[in-house]
Amino acid sequence: MLPPSVLSHLNRASEVPLHLQVYEGLREAILEGTLKPALKLPSTRAMAGHLGVSRNTVLLAFEQLLLEGYLESRVGDGTYVTHTLPDTSLQKVEVKPISEGVQPRLSGRARKLLEVQVTQYLSQPEYRAFRSGMPALKDFPFEEWRKLHARHWKNPPVQLLSYGDPRGHFPLRQAISEYLNASRGVRCTPDQVLITSGSQQGLELAARLLLDEGDSLWMEDPGYLGARAAFQASGLNLCPIPIDQEGMQVQHGARHHPHARMVYVTPSHQYPLGITLSLTRRLELLKWARESGAWILEDDYNSEYRYEGRPLNALQGLDQDGRVIYVGTFSKVLLPSIRIGYLVLPEHLMDLFVHARSLVDRMPPGITQAVLAEFMENGGFERHVRKMRLLYADRQALFLKMAALHFPDWLPFQPSPAGMHLVSHLDSPFSDQALVEEARKVGVTVRALSPSYLQGARQGLLFGYTGFPEDESMLAAHDLGRVLRSL
Ligand SMILES: Cc1ncc(COP(=O)(O)O)c(C=O)c1O
Repeated sequence: MLPPSVLSHLNRASEVPLHLQVYEGLREAILEGTLKPALKLPSTRAMAGHLGVSRNTVLLAFEQLLLEGYLESRVGDGTYVTHTLPDTSLQKVEVKPISEGVQPRLSGRARKLLEVQVTQYLSQPEYRAFRSGMPALKDFPFEEWRKLHARHWKNPPVQLLSYGDPRGHFPLRQAISEYLNASRGVRCTPDQVLITSGSQQGLELAARLLLDEGDSLWMEDPGYLGARAAFQASGLNLCPIPIDQEGMQVQHGARHHPHARMVYVTPSHQYPLGITLSLTRRLELLKWARESGAWILEDDYNSEYRYEGRPLNALQGLDQDGRVIYVGTFSKVLLPSIRIGYLVLPEHLMDLFVHARSLVDRMPPGITQAVLAEFMENGGFERHVRKMRLLYADRQALFLKMAALHFPDWLPFQPSPAGMHLVSHLDSPFSDQALVEEARKVGVTVRALSPSYLQGARQGLLFGYTGFPEDESMLAAHDLGRVLRSL
């Protein structure tokens, strides 16, 4: 009377209630087509007797199946498998994993995205010497941060628990604008600050909202691969602009790519070469942007780390025409995992960016913003930056000593007055990528310079010296030195 599959489901030792087991057995039999549409089922009493369960158990299972539309009841005539279930929906589909070659149909945007190699640069798993761009995670002021969190969670206002302002928590925007005014010469009010999920979101939004597919963008060459990936995924045409001792060669861009609509630039510490964009070049760039109506995306990712003299103020502070969009982040100065960055936008762009940002991820996380705002207001942020600046200067000095001791002549280093990594150009028969692999074999992380170029790649290696305690760095330098000298 009933297909064996229903019976085979019943397991009296199981923690799953019997009525759910009966429900599951019948449902599966319907989906498999063992119980055909319009088939009349036995009465609940008969089925209970047949299965050896209480009638109530069968009633509960029927009730659920009726509710979900697998069964229908006809008054005075019993219960049927719903007669309208289409045959095709009842056939079992064999689901193959995507990796077995069955690809879902993707959008053109997704296909473009898949062409861009992002994982290598945006989600490196290793945390070990000499990974670049890493702050000293273990020196984060955990206790202070924990106390601030505990206090803010104790009795938080509803605004921080509910859907908040998509621009970001006002006190944080205010603290950031005051900090930027005082420390970076950025001219802005809190109403121009949009909190983002790291600079990556800011770069992606700017590329997508201000440029069309096929538009040209000046890209520092070599340049930051995270930015490059976002621009490529937006379908932009990247124009390589070479770097010399004064930074981006603005005249080269003006001559060869006069119709570009945007410029991506890291003026305070060119990534990855570490050069500061000279004042002359800054003024040239602003003039060119004004005359050609282009935007400038100023990525000021680690300007806090300057070990000699005062840093040049941000380009944004020199801009008279609202052409500069300033991109900032707490990833380097606090922790990458905080995922808080910001854009400083010309006023007339703010609504557009807020609109787009709220569609992507609605708003930044409430309590984290409140904690960070207070950390900035109470001086904790400034104290931490000062402490890290001293620590990183020491770590650079130590790194230079270790490099002189352990690394061969063809891997020369110069001290740098700023930043978090050092670059060595290679004068060796080995490619930088081959050396990265050799280093990995002995548990050391270094980054190759050549992939950062769009054209005319030079070979080199990047060593992050800020993120790791002295003993770890010394051990890594020793191990790497052994490998390099043996090559
Ligand atoms: C040039 C540059 N900009 C920005 C960032 C920071 O990105 P995010 O704020 O998304 O963590 C980095 C980190 O490596 C970087 O090198």
